[in-house]
Amino acid sequence: MSNKITVIGSINMDLVTSTGRVPEQGETVLGDDFATIPGGKGANQAVAAAKLGAEVEFIGRVGRDVFGERLTENMKSQGVSVRYLEPVTEKPTGTASILLSEQDNRIIVVPGANLAVTPEVVESHENVIAGSDILLLQLEIPLESVAKAAELAKKHHTTVILNPAPVQELPVSLMDNADYFTPNEHELENLFQGEPEQPSHRSRCIITMGAAGVVFTENRKEKKVPGYPVDPVDTTGAGDTFNGALALALTKGVSLAEACRYANAAAALSVQKMGAQGGMPQQHEVDTFLETQGGTNT
Ligand code: RIB
Repeated sequence: MSNKITVIGSINMDLVTSTGRVPEQGETVLGDDFATIPGGKGANQAVAAAKLGAEVEFIGRVGRDVFGERLTENMKSQGVSVRYLEPVTEKPTGTASILLSEQDNRIIVVPGANLAVTPEVVESHENVIAGSDILLLQLEIPLESVAKAAELAKKHHTTVILNPAPVQELPVSLMDNADYFTPNEHELENLFQGEPEQPSHRSRCIITMGAAGVVFTENRKEKKVPGYPVDPVDTTGAGDTFNGALALALTKGVSLAEACRYANAAAALSVQKMGAQGGMPQQHEVDTFLETQGGTNT
């Protein structure tokens, strides 16, 4: 198997404010720091996989503005192919206002140009999807576009990993066309609210639980793969690192448990630096980390 991964998803400029305390409604507090940092769940997952050595195509849209230019340059410098990342004039680049406080984050995403990733755009890249080993999807572009992408992937036998974030009700066809879902515990609770829960959908969930690791079902039995507790500097993008690393590991044909162990290690390393993409590790860093934890490498 090669390691061609395509990500169809969002790309945002993260506007990150660090504060000792989150203000109450109507209150003003003085924060500690502010930075503009590349982000967006799609872009983050693409960068995570590329840094670990995957060949990554990113299909997305930015605005024709300074943020769009900076984000495109960043993707290139991180080794992600940007030939299908195009600027649009009608909307500004997506942004995410992120409040960092008490070792956790609160995020408001304004999708902007990410909404221009329409089903037609997805359809025009059918050959890219067909030529990939794995298609990685999230929910920060229009839902119909995510559904179209999963449908085309199914048609061409490309494995689909759907990270259902931010969580919303999903059409059954999309659920049917995804091979793996990667909700966290909160997303899992909301994922099956609209539809009666189908065992076949539930059994394809890899549930992420932060430092506690992940749980998934194999041969009708629940399996837990423990995580690696570390002191976090910034947990933003930990889930994205997990997804990018999981995709890369699965292209190597390892077991699901081994792929999750590898992705847990990558996520643990990612939270030790500032920014969604700041701490994303390279392959050798994950290998070294796993060796110190006494496990085998992927
Ligand atoms: O998962 C973290 C990401 O969510 C941030 O980078 C932000 O842009 C939002 O999309």
